[in-house]
Amino acid sequence: MSEEIIRVEELGKSFGEHQVLRKIDFSVNKGDIICILGSSGSGKSTMLRCINQLETQSCGKIFFHGSELGKKQKEINEYRSKVGMVFQSFNLFNNMTVLKNCMEGTQKVLHLPKKEAFERAIENLKAVGMAPFINAYPSQLSGGQKQRVAIARGLCMQPEVLLFDEPTSALDPEMVGDVLNVMKELAKKDLTMLIVTHEMDFARDVSNRVLFMDKGYIVEDAPPQKFFSAPEHPRAKEFLSRFIAG
Ligand SMILES: Nc1ncnc2c1ncn2[C@@H]1O[C@H](COP(=O)(O)OP(=O)(O)OP(=O)(O)O)[C@@H](O)[C@H]1O
Ligand SMILES: [Mg+2]
Repeated sequence: MSEEIIRVEELGKSFGEHQVLRKIDFSVNKGDIICILGSSGSGKSTMLRCINQLETQSCGKIFFHGSELGKKQKEINEYRSKVGMVFQSFNLFNNMTVLKNCMEGTQKVLHLPKKEAFERAIENLKAVGMAPFINAYPSQLSGGQKQRVAIARGLCMQPEVLLFDEPTSALDPEMVGDVLNVMKELAKKDLTMLIVTHEMDFARDVSNRVLFMDKGYIVEDAPPQKFFSAPEHPRAKEFLSRFIAG
């Protein structure tokens, strides 16, 4: 059995009276590529945000390598440097060049010397095809380029797990393929990833597991071959038939 990195137990999240996540249980093993599917409002982003501790869960526990996450900000920051996140809207620092965006975290959080931070930034920018743009500012880039920089920035931290929340949803259609190709390459390199996406072909071809969410529950947790050919839950069937119908 492969090594467990994250385990989520009985996780719940409410905003006021509104219960958004209910009894979420699953674990992430090293090398997993997990795609999280589900209709709008089913709780996908909230689940990722809880896993990354951008939101604090209302109940339940999260374990990292078998230890429950601490509540102190220092512990959370350390955990976050190992469990990174890539957002739909890129969240780059707009006042910094591409290079600076990729050096900021490694210098400020990991305390890497400048030379090492620079080398790591260049290496990861090369990997996503953005090395020629090191001196550009985010406003000078297309959406697809921004997202590739955001992925490089995430990789610079050498995370154990990278979370993606709809990384291609804000992109023009012609940019989507570039970003998905970068993610496919990462999957081959054994990076552990949790990806909220509506890209069904990507989920089917690249993931080793699909979680399908409905109304705050994970109602199906299956390998992609099984999920896409014979989904069990009625909501999963309906969701897929909508995609197939286009
Ligand atoms: N900060 C918040 N305060 C109050 N309600 C919230 C907050 N964040 C999310 N919600 C609610 O939680 C529910 C789940 O939202 P979430 O963004 O996790 O869904 P999602 O599956 O990511 O949807 P989408 O596919 O549209 O991104 C929604 O009803 C949303 O309105
Ligand atoms: Mg969302």
